[in-house]
Amino acid sequence: MPHQHATDLCRQLGIEVPLVCGAMYPCSNPELVAAASQAGALGIVQPMSLSYVHGYEFKDGLQYIRSLTTKPIGVNLILETSSRIYQERTQRWAEASVEAGIKCFVTALGNPAWVVKLAHAHGITVFHDVTNATHANKALDAGVDGFICVNNRAGGHAGKLEPQALYDEIAPLGKPVICAGGIGHAEQLKQMLTIGYAGAQLGTRFIATTECSAHDDYKQAILSAEESDIVLTEKLSGVPVAVINTPYIESIGIKAGPIARWLLQNRRGKHLMRTIYTLQSVYKLKKASLGGSGYKDYWQAGKSAGQIRQVKRVEEIVNEFQAAL
Ligand SMILES: Cc1cc2nc3c(=O)[nH]c(=O)nc-3n(C[C@H](O)[C@H](O)[C@H](O)COP(=O)(O)O)c2cc1C
Repeated sequence: MPHQHATDLCRQLGIEVPLVCGAMYPCSNPELVAAASQAGALGIVQPMSLSYVHGYEFKDGLQYIRSLTTKPIGVNLILETSSRIYQERTQRWAEASVEAGIKCFVTALGNPAWVVKLAHAHGITVFHDVTNATHANKALDAGVDGFICVNNRAGGHAGKLEPQALYDEIAPLGKPVICAGGIGHAEQLKQMLTIGYAGAQLGTRFIATTECSAHDDYKQAILSAEESDIVLTEKLSGVPVAVINTPYIESIGIKAGPIARWLLQNRRGKHLMRTIYTLQSVYKLKKASLGGSGYKDYWQAGKSAGQIRQVKRVEEIVNEFQAAL
């Protein structure tokens, strides 16, 4: 592998290919996470997905993944602070992850300081999702080991910057940087490594796999989508989420309604709106992912969908990416 930063990342995370199978609510079923790690990449567990969508008590789910692979796995912690119950649950997930011997936390939103403290006491690495230098600087102060740079092409909550511009903002902080967003093909990983990224986190590409338990209609929609079919909707969580544009999405529009917008502008209203949105989206996304085309309300996918033309096995994808380096 000619890229030193990619080699260093692989060593840091104990993986063979500088690829991360990103956390996906609701698509991260345990078999998908395990298959990514087993193939030599890093599979990331999404705790809400594991318990609420796929029906495992968190510890049992981790153990099940451990029975499928002994290679490194990571856990995603969304550090949302609007609900105390969720915060306490996040803490329990973090502690159970430490007990299960995970390799890495991928934190998102909020202040990762408490996760860093816990992780570093147990030799675990913390990568924080960032979309700009302001958030990255705060996470750097909290002691994170690296950044996942979520660009404007990503599935899930997309960023605003192109991959190169985001690299230019975050790389000067001196930590390893992983590119997230828009990568559906092995050649694109090579391009990102040439920019200076140490590796890539992929989401959408791993939905269209035999190991992902998402409904086949959802996978087919990814295969048929072009880049221009991916739109950002605020209807799901109040902040833009990338989805495939279907007649349903067109019929409801992509902007948050006037009352939601007004509530989102002040602090207390924001918490209320976030709670309403979270409850709604947790339910709608589960339904859309597991149900077929009658439920195509929200099929989340990034612009990488434009590069994805075939459902493949996870190992096949990871091998293709490795071979291209
Ligand atoms: C369906 C879906 C759900 C996602 N859910 C999460 C999540 O729960 N937590 C998270 O940190 N990132 C989440 N992401 C972002 C991915 O981990 C990854 O960064 C992103 O998909 C990369 O862009 P790509 O889809 O173009 O490969 C999600 C992405 C998708 C497509």
